[in-house]
Amino acid sequence: MSRPADTAWDATRYDRQHAYITRYGLEVVDLLDPRPGERVLDVGCGTGHLTAEIAGRGAITLGIDASEEMIAEARRSHPALAFEVADAASFSTPAPFDAAFSSAALHWMKPPDAVAASIAGALKPGGRLVAEMGGHGNVLSFRAAIAAARAAEGLFADVERHVWFFPTVAEYTALLARHGLEITEARFFERPTPIDGGREGLKNWLETFAGSYFEDVDAAQRARISADVARRLERDRFRDGAWIADYVRLRFTARRTG
Ligand code: BEZ
Repeated sequence: MSRPADTAWDATRYDRQHAYITRYGLEVVDLLDPRPGERVLDVGCGTGHLTAEIAGRGAITLGIDASEEMIAEARRSHPALAFEVADAASFSTPAPFDAAFSSAALHWMKPPDAVAASIAGALKPGGRLVAEMGGHGNVLSFRAAIAAARAAEGLFADVERHVWFFPTVAEYTALLARHGLEITEARFFERPTPIDGGREGLKNWLETFAGSYFEDVDAAQRARISADVARRLERDRFRDGAWIADYVRLRFTARRTG
């Protein structure tokens, strides 16, 4: 689950507090349906648990991620598997892959055209790309609450100015087509997602994933904004002891045409 290369990630905290990301990713592994002996590239592998799941089904895997912290943790957790620090926008691989896989990661990677070009270049002709990412409108209630809480502090706030790339199906289909990848199946769906960690879960989510909204604030402002975000979201998005993120997923299978 790759994020921008310039972000330092606390990989053990990521695993401890956000295990639901790996749980949901298993559905994407099922869609990939890796076969014994296939060579599979996991793009934005994070701490490598889904790479290990794919390898456990008999595939020969390589996991790549821009974060050194994530790759170090992946190597510690899965020492028998291959992992490399690599930027999805510029990597190249010596031998082509039968399939590329990505779960909850492509929305962090920029520029998206360069990422698609790298992935296409890593695939054999006919090779498949199976992935899930945030789709258009993803975590909109969270983004709106953060923007409103920032505005209340007199800070710049624009809900559409965010670090992620959350495309529509049409946008992503056109983008992949520019790089010789044809979408063969796509699902765009809302998936309200309970965040681990009970009441603390929202604060943890903001700290892990929404750091870019807090770069221009001091610790006191950060705490106030975080508490204000929770107040704004409480009525609609806190249920039965868990925060429910309004995730929107774009899940697809594509194949390299050339
Ligand atoms: C996602 O998986 O959709 C996601 C996770 C964290 C921040 C933004 C999006």
